[in-house]
Amino acid sequence: MATEPLSAGSDRTREALLAAARQAAASAYASRSGVHVGAAVLSATGRIYAGCNVENAAFPLGNCAEPAAIAAGVLAEGGAFRIAEVAVWADTVAAPCFPISPCGGCRQRISELALGPGVLVHFTWPGPGLSSVAIGELLPFAFRMDPRAAPPP
Ligand code: THU
Repeated sequence: MATEPLSAGSDRTREALLAAARQAAASAYASRSGVHVGAAVLSATGRIYAGCNVENAAFPLGNCAEPAAIAAGVLAEGGAFRIAEVAVWADTVAAPCFPISPCGGCRQRISELALGPGVLVHFTWPGPGLSSVAIGELLPFAFRMDPRAAPPP
């Protein structure tokens, strides 16, 4: 974890996020798929929060890495937590020829708390390679509800 606040959009931040995601992937409990995923989110306050996937014998009960990282951010910063940048890292025994990018549900989760559609999501390809794509491109027309229509917290 970085101790001094980081800003979105710099090489240093991208590298710090990827390093945090990679470290988190090493802690993953991927007993069924063997796909060890780590996610790291940069908050609007410049801090990094990480999480890993946790699988279960009852397959649908498994959790992705991204919600774990988001939960860590909300726990630390409360309801004001917002996402400024994201990195996802995956280590797998299989050698997929496709990137391990956030799944559809995780795109929705990131989108809900992202500062805006331009928030960058970095994810790796085996090879290795790296893609950096805005959340608005990963999930166009994201589902939204006006928070003012929700009951008071
Ligand atoms: N996985 C994630 O952690 N994040 C994603 O966005 C894609 C999928 C995990 C879920 C499961 O534990 C493993 O990757 C294989 O699907």
